[in-house]
Amino acid sequence: MGINILGTGCYVPEQTLTNDDFTRFVDTSDEWIRTRTGICERHMAGWEPVWYMGAHAAKQAIERAGIDPVDIGLIITTTVTSEFLTPSISSVIQRETGAVNAAAFDMNVGCSGFVYAVDTARRFLETDSSMKYALVIASEALSRFTDFTDRSTCVLFGDGAGAIVVERSDKLFSSHLTSDGTGAHFLCARNVRVAPEVAIETDFEDGFPDRGLHKLYQDGREVYKFATKALPAAFEAAAEKIGITKDDIDWFIPHQANVRIIETAAKKFELPMERFVITLDHFGNTSSSSIPLAFNEAVEKGMIQRGQKLAFIGFGSGLTSGCVIVEY
Ligand code: UT7
Repeated sequence: MGINILGTGCYVPEQTLTNDDFTRFVDTSDEWIRTRTGICERHMAGWEPVWYMGAHAAKQAIERAGIDPVDIGLIITTTVTSEFLTPSISSVIQRETGAVNAAAFDMNVGCSGFVYAVDTARRFLETDSSMKYALVIASEALSRFTDFTDRSTCVLFGDGAGAIVVERSDKLFSSHLTSDGTGAHFLCARNVRVAPEVAIETDFEDGFPDRGLHKLYQDGREVYKFATKALPAAFEAAAEKIGITKDDIDWFIPHQANVRIIETAAKKFELPMERFVITLDHFGNTSSSSIPLAFNEAVEKGMIQRGQKLAFIGFGSGLTSGCVIVEY
């Protein structure tokens, strides 16, 4: 069983930061950021909460899907940057959208979140025939958890939200999800410290770098090595399950972390970069929102057409990766 994507939506904050803006507070340059990452500009949440951005994207997706929100049976939001430890962002988005009959929960899978959530939604639709539509949202404000004194991470991230509405269908579908917890400490942000006094007395260390609470740490080189392998591997595993190859895919929509990671995948697949949707130049790395934002933009621009085969490929903290292959 596959899914039919009925509608897409997005929200990006009003405020933008160019590469040059960063030169005012860290030792960097437009040239370094462009050539090492492909990023030129990113949106930064100012007044906009994560739940607000997600609700806005969700409402747009619902409107474009042309459905009544009361018929939505499931809301899954992926985020690593919620304003709330509880309730879930999905519950808040339920309140905002009027999807009163939906089950609602969040997923935290770093930048792989959207792929995990789409796969999860499909499984719900398959096993619960009373469920008509599922709403999948990704909403992130990485800027709120970025250390703006650390030039190696602060220039990478941007904020925004994307959403899709799906229903069950007999269209082609495959997925493959991975996680390797031995790399968990390469990309992390600490929320609380467990009894710091006891930790000091007992000399306890959990193996995670401590850059302060709510500040993102990334070992860029380790994550880069992982990403360049994980992106093609996740696709190949998902494609193999349904006996298709890279040549059957019209559009690859990978997580938008670094254009060099995508170029490496294109080279490995021996495919032109034109088959990959790229939006990181103007959105930066928006974590789990990056795939639905890129997808939404490509749909809005008319690049992606009905009937085409798409591969959403995520990779990120965990270290996790995943690929979902769908027919649009
Ligand atoms: O979204 C979740 C998944 N995340 C990813 O996929 C990110 C994967 N990693 C990357 O994309 C890259 O590793 C980065 C973009 C984070 C870094 O690029 P890099 O080419 O791996 O640079 P590097 O960390 O090896 O650093 C090279 C040099 C260093 O200077 P030295 O030690 O050679 O003197 C850094 O201090 O570049 C320096 N550097 C900078 N220079 C100017 C690091 N950040 C900056 C900066 N401006 N913003």
